[in-house]
Amino acid sequence: MCGIVAYFGKKEAQPILIEGLRRLEYRGYDSAGVALLKDGAFDLYKISGRIANLEGIVPEPSSPATVGIGHTRWATHGKPTTPNAHPHIDCTGKIAVVHNGIIENYAILKKWLIQEGCTFKSETDTEVVANLIGYFYEKNLSRDGQNTPQRNNRFEWAVQQALNEIHGTYGLAILCLDCPDIMIGVKNGSPLILGVGENEFIIASDTSAIIEHTSQAVYLSDGEMVCIRKDGFTTKTITDKEVQKELKEIEISLDQIELEGFDHYMQKEIAEQPQVLETCLNGRVDVKNGRVVLGGIQDQLRDLTRTKRVILAACGTAWHAGLVGEFLFEQLARIPAEVEYASEFRYRNPVIDEGALFIAISQSGETADTLAAVEQAKERGATVLGVVNVVGSTIARTTDAGVYLRVGPEIGVASTKAFTAQVAVLTMLAIELGRRRHLSADIAQALLKELTEIPKKVEHILTQNEQIKQIAQANIDKDNWLFLGRGLNYPVALEGALKLKEISYIHAEGLPAAEMKHGPIALITDEMPTVFIATQCSQYEKIIGNIEEVRARGGKTIVVATEGDEHIKQYADHLITVPDTVEQLQPLLTVVPLQMLAYHAAVLRGHDVDKPRNLAKSVTVE
Ligand code: AGP
Repeated sequence: MCGIVAYFGKKEAQPILIEGLRRLEYRGYDSAGVALLKDGAFDLYKISGRIANLEGIVPEPSSPATVGIGHTRWATHGKPTTPNAHPHIDCTGKIAVVHNGIIENYAILKKWLIQEGCTFKSETDTEVVANLIGYFYEKNLSRDGQNTPQRNNRFEWAVQQALNEIHGTYGLAILCLDCPDIMIGVKNGSPLILGVGENEFIIASDTSAIIEHTSQAVYLSDGEMVCIRKDGFTTKTITDKEVQKELKEIEISLDQIELEGFDHYMQKEIAEQPQVLETCLNGRVDVKNGRVVLGGIQDQLRDLTRTKRVILAACGTAWHAGLVGEFLFEQLARIPAEVEYASEFRYRNPVIDEGALFIAISQSGETADTLAAVEQAKERGATVLGVVNVVGSTIARTTDAGVYLRVGPEIGVASTKAFTAQVAVLTMLAIELGRRRHLSADIAQALLKELTEIPKKVEHILTQNEQIKQIAQANIDKDNWLFLGRGLNYPVALEGALKLKEISYIHAEGLPAAEMKHGPIALITDEMPTVFIATQCSQYEKIIGNIEEVRARGGKTIVVATEGDEHIKQYADHLITVPDTVEQLQPLLTVVPLQMLAYHAAVLRGHDVDKPRNLAKSVTVE
């Protein structure tokens, strides 16, 4: 939800922090700030709005600092104002903190700290963390008056004392004025990674802010902290137990996080789909034998043959992919399946029997609601798999096993290539589970053969960019749209509506097409474009009927149809075509024009496509 970056080394910290924040800006962009530690003082710069605003107030340093922390915010507690921007410095002026997450008990702690004489300048929970650390550091006594630590560990000890009082989630980077040779990072429920370079260290919310400095990283687990000094770093739990962490190679490259000539990351990621789908399928599809090889879950697959029920849990776009998965598990593997909104599932005291397969779907692998659902499913004995994009993310490391999407970093807040890859992985999983039950080899071979054709068919759809842009242009002034589909295209209708909503700010609703006559058809006027996904499939005649119902009431129709379908042209005010494919694989194609439609609508409306208002790429708070 927010982006943290911190630098400890020999180079000038300021430009490294600013560039790192720019790479993390997609995680939140309500306000930004940096604190530089130099000559016994903090140089603190923070401002509401984008990183560009921060760059405008940070002066060229006369004597550059080589240690500093930075933050780009998605507001949770307190408005996106300058006083609420991070870093926060405690009332003694000695502790500076940047934080990603939510402190659940911040109000009671704030009340106690005020009683103890602390003062506050902001409405944030993060300032409570800074003051709590400052309190223990200053008093040098724990809350019960004991544990006066040795002086040289006093900063670390004060951090641990503060964390023991806190309930909630946090990724933290912390500095202390008296200890310029130490920087502390802590992870609990929010992402935090330590990049280890040549005599320099970078702490960040994700690897995109680290990769241009080093490809070596330490992935902290929840409840762990890292204490960085000039000669190296130590890792321990927040209860002061040493832990050994291995250095891992960061798997993304710098060019993967660059725009590479595109106007927006979303545009780049839509265009990348053919090749990243190839990568996602590569080495996993065995057409000859009609089998799927998913290395990450091979051990679990044997046991899963007897699975009695599949529960998929996700949020947003990932949930839409999960709905496709639900249909495919039932159609291909004949296993009862249901997709759950993770945010609802976790509070519903769900019935999860031992034989259940629980699949968490998450591009970022850090979505708090999905992570909580995973933890609950594990507690109740389900086998828990992850379908995740970000390697080493919290969900990826919490599940029993999983399948990575392999689509590279998805920077645009609106998820595109991750959706198609999630659907591709769920399709492969449904086929493989089906093959271990009743699905015949020849059906599986045909499906898998067609699956390998999908990337080229997506490539073909991308050539309609200009037509789709014109359709967006023709409807850009309409403030309410409908997206309708049936069967496996119903989840795609939901996804198309979400894409349009979240980046063009046009209100849109996705529905099963047949539901229109149960109420929503009352909405139809010529001011409400209706997008129909009407490819040739088992419900083709039915969807034609639904289109006629809308047109009979003066509704304008944008139709996504199968290439070469002449019959449907009479029903379409605007027509987009996709290559023919088997019904089970149609979502992989029909979603692409809707991604492009939303993209052009947002650009034509002059919005920041990659950083739409009020949103962030990774929702790491509940
Ligand atoms: C998708 O376009 C949205 N940005 C959002 O709904 C997203 O899919 C959702 O927050 C889930 O994120 P995740 O896949 O990283 O868990």
